[in-house]
Amino acid sequence: MEAFRVVGGTRLAGDVRVPGAKNSVLKLMAASLLATGRTTLSDVPDIVDVRIMAELLRRLGCEVEHDPEAGVVAITVPQTPGHRADYDLVRAMRASISVLGPLVTRCGSADVALPGGDAIGSRGLDLHILGLTAFGAQIRVDHGFLVAEAPDGLHGAEVRLDFPSVGATENLLMAAVLARGTTTIENAAREPEIVDLCRMLRRMGAQIDGIGSSVLTVEGVEAMTPVDHRVVPDRIVAGTWAFAATITGGDVVVRNGEPGHLGVVLDKLTLAGAEVSVLGDGFRVVGPERPRAIDVATLPYPGFPTDLQPFVITLDAVAEGAAMVTENLFEARFRFVQEVARLGAQVRVDGHHAFVRGVPRLSAAPVEASDIRAGAALVIAGLVADGETVVSGARHIDRGYERMDHALRALGANVSRVEHPDFAFV
Ligand code: UD1
Repeated sequence: MEAFRVVGGTRLAGDVRVPGAKNSVLKLMAASLLATGRTTLSDVPDIVDVRIMAELLRRLGCEVEHDPEAGVVAITVPQTPGHRADYDLVRAMRASISVLGPLVTRCGSADVALPGGDAIGSRGLDLHILGLTAFGAQIRVDHGFLVAEAPDGLHGAEVRLDFPSVGATENLLMAAVLARGTTTIENAAREPEIVDLCRMLRRMGAQIDGIGSSVLTVEGVEAMTPVDHRVVPDRIVAGTWAFAATITGGDVVVRNGEPGHLGVVLDKLTLAGAEVSVLGDGFRVVGPERPRAIDVATLPYPGFPTDLQPFVITLDAVAEGAAMVTENLFEARFRFVQEVARLGAQVRVDGHHAFVRGVPRLSAAPVEASDIRAGAALVIAGLVADGETVVSGARHIDRGYERMDHALRALGANVSRVEHPDFAFV
């Protein structure tokens, strides 16, 4: 079992480059299933989740060439792909569920194991099911699989989501592009990764209107063609570096970061005392001597992203003053609080609110990553802790961050990857 060992006390300084977005590339890989032939994706991050999705596509009969150094994935989809996504892969990565829409619309059936994934809450699938049912699919649960069938193909429909779910919007969109007739998805999610997916689908031949808005209209087409597509930059990784610079009082240039996708986030960091400047190919964040506490409530885009919430708690933990952090999407993201409290953070949780009172410095300890973002936030917390923090569960961080230890060392941090024995009591 691997861990990150972090020795606190460095102000991060230098350049870091953000690759394409995890939350986009996984869906773009799933979307490749909609067209027979070779789809090529570039600026693909070298992260574990991409390897899992590549394996899933291989098991569906696709040929997948992955060059992690070059950041390229080429997927060749057969005329008739398979339609079963196994439990071992879906359990390892919840985003596997995004093959459901493409498979049912393309093959007339899909068997996708019910997911596990990040330890961040119950995360239902009712909206995915509601939409696909409206498109004419018959859906049932069979021995741990969600089975969707539409032997005569899907038809368009009007679907109103009661919450702008990212995953449901994507699945329904990918199903609708090959369905007969017109679909409207109201209260659709508007995340930049959805815009990226819409752009790729449109270039593949889909007819989609309202891209970037909360009403998407899709006119189904007969068939789609494969394309080459460059993945949108990862705004969550870019935001992670922006927080890391602010928390450590550093000076970091985030290359390929898209400030337009981080509006509320960069506003909050400015309130915390950071200086943010927009550059030609990214942005720069200069942190204050000590940040000021910031109140944040997470919301669907363009609100404050839930994936950056653990970094807010980390910032508030060492800030001047006290603040309230409200989690509106995934209640279990507050599991992170118990770990950061082991580093001396003063945090009290009441329901979906966390009240944080800043202390001047954290105090190093062994801690454990429970999901991707919690893990990365614990590493950043280690940078402002006295002594040596060991964050176990490096595998969680590797799911979403490309060699985070390398990037941190390039910014001057004392961070290394170490073997961490898993204690077994018999
Ligand atoms: C995606 C992102 C994740 C991010 C989240 C919100 C990927 C791989 N993951 O997750 O990093 O934190 O968006 O921005 O892209 N819900 C239901 N029923 C449904 C679907 C969702 O109740 O059918 C609920 C979930 O339990 C959750 C909320 O809606 O409380 C948001 O979920 P959703 O937007 O679907 O997130 P994901 O697509 O799972």
